[in-house]
Amino acid sequence: MNTTNTEQTGVPIRRLAAWDAGALCNLAAEFETPLYVMDMNRVRENCARLLDAFPAATVRYAIKAHSGQAVLEVIRDVGIDVECASAGEVKAALTAGFDGARIQYTAVNPPARDLDAIVEWWRDNREMTITVGAADTVERLRERGFDGRLCIRVNPNVGAGHHEKVTTGANAKFGIPHERVAELAAEWAAEFNFVGLHAHAGSGISGEDLSSHEELVRRMGTLARTVAERAGSIEFVDVGGGFGVPYRPSDPPLDLYDVAERTRDALGTVNATLAIEPGRYVVADAGILLTRANTIKNAREATVVGVDAGMTTLLRPAMYDAYHEIQNISASSTTDSKPVTVAGPICESSDIFAENRSIATPTRGDILAIGTTGAYGYEMASTYNARPRPAEVIYDDNTVKLARRRETLDELDVIEAASDEDSIELSSIVSHSSSSVTSDSTVPVSSTTHAPPGGGPQ
Ligand code: LLP
Repeated sequence: MNTTNTEQTGVPIRRLAAWDAGALCNLAAEFETPLYVMDMNRVRENCARLLDAFPAATVRYAIKAHSGQAVLEVIRDVGIDVECASAGEVKAALTAGFDGARIQYTAVNPPARDLDAIVEWWRDNREMTITVGAADTVERLRERGFDGRLCIRVNPNVGAGHHEKVTTGANAKFGIPHERVAELAAEWAAEFNFVGLHAHAGSGISGEDLSSHEELVRRMGTLARTVAERAGSIEFVDVGGGFGVPYRPSDPPLDLYDVAERTRDALGTVNATLAIEPGRYVVADAGILLTRANTIKNAREATVVGVDAGMTTLLRPAMYDAYHEIQNISASSTTDSKPVTVAGPICESSDIFAENRSIATPTRGDILAIGTTGAYGYEMASTYNARPRPAEVIYDDNTVKLARRRETLDELDVIEAASDEDSIELSSIVSHSSSSVTSDSTVPVSSTTHAPPGGGPQ
């Protein structure tokens, strides 16, 4: 049953063709390329649809999809909370004005430096929740004096995802095996404020097959009832994110209202609030990437269109064989289309956005728009090949602002140590070997047990 107020929540997917090509060409001319463009109104619409479909749930935005301050401020203002995967993401949330009660930190093999910072921030934000996926993490939190809100990440032994590289639910790396959770919850409830259970199947809840998602939620419901008996009441059962968006023009949008209904059914009666953690769904179709064609090469096998964005700008095609729509927005409506390979400037054969893709025949200088790049686009950008990261503009109603300026060549080497004066004699480094096995301090651990620079057996 669809109860949506479409005026408020918008169409369920914004495809590339719905963007204003003329306005995008103007942005490319003004801010140069490669350029990410994010539309804040679309972020608001996606948030409204989530809140509408899951009215009684706690919605937490997974910051890892896009951690920019402008996005976080929109999320904050619409009343959605945040899920953070690192100290950097918690810092971004605090900077954007989220108070501790709205921040959930999910610790995955957390580096000592992250735990140090987060426990420090927790002292001033006691309502922050920390989710642990290993008993070790609890021990390390205890050592730092943390006794606050604790949640267990469960490994439910069921996963789902658009690619094996984003399927987490049954991966031993993530979460505590579900059969051990009730016992540990009972133990930790005596020492911490034990507030919830969490699981994330992976990134790929699609309308075509909801069975893995439903099975995960069913298991979480069963576990929540057992934990309530053994460890006392909990506040929430968080079933993670993974709400899919259609990347291909032929893919139908997710029926979020159907997903919500089936999620509630699968959870059953629990004396706790349902929580969800969408990342991609909030921002994916609110963003596009603009890139300029600089090379047109008629090779034997294909016409290669070389562009100024590459896998360092948008990693998803290289890493997951992900499909993103591509349109030549400089072309006129009468330009013939032809199949081309769209490739970036990085010296890797995987630096390809599309092969045998039919688009309006590009000429050098044309602007290509790459669709649905608001999630895990800028966020996964790198400086590989010593290539500066792109710029990003945000537009909101009629205003455009540079949210992230283009990185410069001069900035690429600023973190390199400046001179030989920074060198120290290897033998002068104090040995930490006696404490390094159990120490979780952030003092750099160097010792004679380490292989010398230049090799040697470890
Ligand atoms: N919660 C947890 C604990 C997660 O690990 C993730 C994603 C989410 C929520 C949000 O998932 P979403 O709703 O965005 O699917 N770089 C990949 C996606 C990796 C997602 C990792 N975890 C991609 O570009 O497809």
